[in-house]
Amino acid sequence: MATIHELPTPSVLVDRARVAANIKSMQEDCAAHGVELRPHVKTHKMVAVGRMQLDAGARGFTCAKLGEAEALLPSGVRRVFLAHSLVDPRQAPRIAALSERLDEFVVAATSGPQAVALDRLAGLAGRRLPVMLAVDTGLGREGVRSLADAQALAAQIGRSGHLELHGFYTHEGQMYSVVPGGQQAASDEALAKLASVRDAIAPGLPLWPGSSVNARRMARSGRVQAVRPGAYVFGDLSLSQVCRVMEPGEVALTVLATVVDLPEPGLALIDAGSKAFSGDKTPDGVHASSADGRELSVMRVNEEHGYVRGSAVASLRIGDRLRFVPAHVCTVVNLTDEVVVVEGESVVDRWEVEARGKVR
Ligand SMILES: Cc1ncc(COP(=O)(O)O)c(C=O)c1O
Repeated sequence: MATIHELPTPSVLVDRARVAANIKSMQEDCAAHGVELRPHVKTHKMVAVGRMQLDAGARGFTCAKLGEAEALLPSGVRRVFLAHSLVDPRQAPRIAALSERLDEFVVAATSGPQAVALDRLAGLAGRRLPVMLAVDTGLGREGVRSLADAQALAAQIGRSGHLELHGFYTHEGQMYSVVPGGQQAASDEALAKLASVRDAIAPGLPLWPGSSVNARRMARSGRVQAVRPGAYVFGDLSLSQVCRVMEPGEVALTVLATVVDLPEPGLALIDAGSKAFSGDKTPDGVHASSADGRELSVMRVNEEHGYVRGSAVASLRIGDRLRFVPAHVCTVVNLTDEVVVVEGESVVDRWEVEARGKVR
């Protein structure tokens, strides 16, 4: 049987047992509280992983782009929430096709002007589309900022012949900047804002918050109907080292790289740079850290070089092969055509990243 020792580098490795355990554990936490899991597929972009999520009980997928939803259809998914600001009339045929193929295709209303464009788009698609109204709960990205704006947007949706208010959502990505001890309070604050907007407009409609940092807290709250975490499926430094909501031993994706040079004391160069790790880093400036617990971190990247520093650099030799946990896993997966599936050091499968680069 092939092992990781025969693989070319850099290679992206996914530990099958760990990804299965992450899927099962999030699903069980949601099920225990009667909450639907609608995982965001931007993290894995793979039919194989989507199937595992659906088999475990996921209600449907959250997608950022139409191309992601289209590429993941072979998973057998029946429900998709497209959590992005759709405005382009050229997308009408694709929206019509997805609505036709799926049991439920839900879109996002993120502001008054966006909803004007969305209404036109739905008209061109010849569809009456269910919409989730976006509420900004602190990230400062899409979503209404005030109750007055939410009421105006809900009224606008109510007047539309093509849109129908389905519920309220937020992406509380600000949770990534909250220290672990403050996560419960920050999550409660986001939920209180989301719920207060819903209660003032349509108390019977569902709440769908979404972030891997606090998905379990939201599910436990007993006040939401679905959660939409994405990164939980693999984990990364952000979730395990910064937010500390996953154990390092639960992280399922690593990048295998080779030490290709030792140009000066304290510095090792590896053959994986921004084209393997992306440019994302933790607040401490770390692009990736050694998965074996040794103090070895990628502190800088060029396209095909990673600059590794840390106390264990002195022990490295040219040709050494190391597994690194990236700072942010979603952007890493989008850079590879396939992942190598491993059990321990054995290679057991390869999964294509079907939605890789599907950013349209
Ligand atoms: C709209 C939306 N929903 C859900 C998620 C998933 O959150 P996380 O990356 O914390 O898993 C994201 C992530 O960016 C998002 O943008």
